[in-house]
Amino acid sequence: MSDIQFDARGRLRHLLTLEGIGRQTLTALLDRADALRVMPGEAPRRQTWLAGRTVANLFFEPSTRTRASFELAARRLGADVLNLDMQSSSTVKGESLEDTLYTLEAMNVDVFVVRHKDEGVPTLLAMHAAPHVHVLNAGEAHLSHPTQGLLDVFTIRRHKKDISQLSVAIVGDIKHSRVARSVVRGLVTLGARDIRLAGPRSLLPKAGEMKGELFTDADKAVAGADVVMMLRIQKERMQKSSVPTVAAYFKRYGLDRRRLRLAKPGAIVMHPGPMNRGIEIAPDVADGPQSVIREQVTNGVAVRMAVLQGFYT
Ligand code: CP
Repeated sequence: MSDIQFDARGRLRHLLTLEGIGRQTLTALLDRADALRVMPGEAPRRQTWLAGRTVANLFFEPSTRTRASFELAARRLGADVLNLDMQSSSTVKGESLEDTLYTLEAMNVDVFVVRHKDEGVPTLLAMHAAPHVHVLNAGEAHLSHPTQGLLDVFTIRRHKKDISQLSVAIVGDIKHSRVARSVVRGLVTLGARDIRLAGPRSLLPKAGEMKGELFTDADKAVAGADVVMMLRIQKERMQKSSVPTVAAYFKRYGLDRRRLRLAKPGAIVMHPGPMNRGIEIAPDVADGPQSVIREQVTNGVAVRMAVLQGFYT
């Protein structure tokens, strides 16, 4: 499946998953993002890499960060941007995803950014896309969120020198998390060896499904970690509630100051957002000196610019 991501010369044509993307390609993307990164308060330079191109955002699920950052990334590269409201699009009247693609291609859309609750939608669009068209996965079911994985490893790389030496603890609803799957893939590609996946047994993946050691004890997972990434409980992907009360969950798995003190002193705290303060993370930790959560958002724009720019260089 991942081969469809590459063109005949081995260059990324679509971004559907981090599976199958080698270290060199991944590192080149992160290096490009470094060059494009703009701090809050700075005026981003208007670039022209995508001048004359049109990027369409097709979000069938809610989003704040991913959708806004793809739009800003595309505009800062000079593209026109089409934000479709999928809840009031003709897909509601039964139009297929393929026909939606063909219809928008006929209006000269060049890049499709898609988020969908179902597995396989980004690949389906990529399979039917015209040769000049690019498809970007902005979140696929519980499976994959490649630009989030990229921005997370980008953020880690900015703070920690050698990824192969890091201990990374990911705590929360791993089972339903496309973020966890993508960031673990990115970390493994960059050489990470100590990845710890912690949560209640009902929210852990099956043994062997993902790289990493499974923990039901959050304290043990966080102990000595260089990076602590907290995840939201994804009630929208559960058949029935798999967790006890909020208070019990926070006590066993939430990141408060006591639990964070178990990590290395210079550990960074991450969260892909949206956060549920007081459920998986204490507000004073989310806003504290070790948190890089807002920096992740800043980095998301640079990473998405890097991916888009890569299609046109
Ligand atoms: N991290 C993430 O995907 O956030 P949004 O759902 O707000 O896009």
